[in-house]
Amino acid sequence: MEIYYKSETLRLALSLFIKKKEKIGFVPTMGALHLGHMSLVERALRENDCVVVSIFVNPTQFNNPEDLEKYPKTLENDVALIETLNENVLIYTPNVSDIYKNNISSKKYRFSGLEHEMEGKHREGHFDGVGTVLDKLFRIITPTKAYFGEKDFQQLQVVKKLVEIELLPVSIIGCSIVREKSGLAMSSRNKRLTESQKSEASLINKTLIEVVNKFKTESISELNKYVNDIFNKHPNLALEYFEIANVKTLKTAKRKRKENTYRAFIAVFTGNVRLIDNIALN
Ligand code: PAJ
Repeated sequence: MEIYYKSETLRLALSLFIKKKEKIGFVPTMGALHLGHMSLVERALRENDCVVVSIFVNPTQFNNPEDLEKYPKTLENDVALIETLNENVLIYTPNVSDIYKNNISSKKYRFSGLEHEMEGKHREGHFDGVGTVLDKLFRIITPTKAYFGEKDFQQLQVVKKLVEIELLPVSIIGCSIVREKSGLAMSSRNKRLTESQKSEASLINKTLIEVVNKFKTESISELNKYVNDIFNKHPNLALEYFEIANVKTLKTAKRKRKENTYRAFIAVFTGNVRLIDNIALN
């Protein structure tokens, strides 16, 4: 394992793999690594000759300055975790100027409307920031395959659209959500929760599992009411949105159609920490 801080030195190291026509896997992250991230790295190692893990807290994708400021930074632990793999991993942890030079701003994208739904509605400019940083990282790293978690399902769909728009020769691979024993989806933001907040937050996944069971027999409006009622009653968990959406368009579904595939998406605040999760329905 090697750590690179500058794109030039990373490119130099990667050129050896590229010369031999070897496959480069890429796992972009913002650090504070957990087993969810590690599942992506492990899969990338199985499918490629080397893997680049980027650790970069991207300023342009944060709409909330407090969220950016409080984002956990645990580089030493992250490196130690990657070292346990004992494999061909290159860590790339640039500073903001290596990525943005002196222009910290996002390009404005149109992702066929995907950017206007759910996270896009609640986090203004978020997907422009994600698209901008990933476009830059893909051009530096030139990966064969890049790995993204279904934890951020909307992001995964947006990234597939991004590589289409930018004509980037990389395959985007979606990986399933890794959860705590309690069902809580692993997230770097969980590090900001107390033990009791974590245990309360397991209600998010429990509710989604109930939605899967009820989806067979109940209408979408009944399910919306069911979820809203649960969180309205809860003293410490504030529902930001719950939506059942078509997986292709991510548009809110009003009524079920047999030919469509749906997922349920949820965003909940516990204190001032925002958690998201989602689950397949059919
Ligand atoms: P970050 O939140 O660090 O997540 C990095 C990758 O890990 C994403 O693809 C995310 O979906 C995946 N991931 C996070 N938690 C997971 C879990 N519990 N199970 C499976 N995969 C999980 O997403 C970002 O960073 C940023 O937006 C980034 C893509 C790096 C661009 O800045």
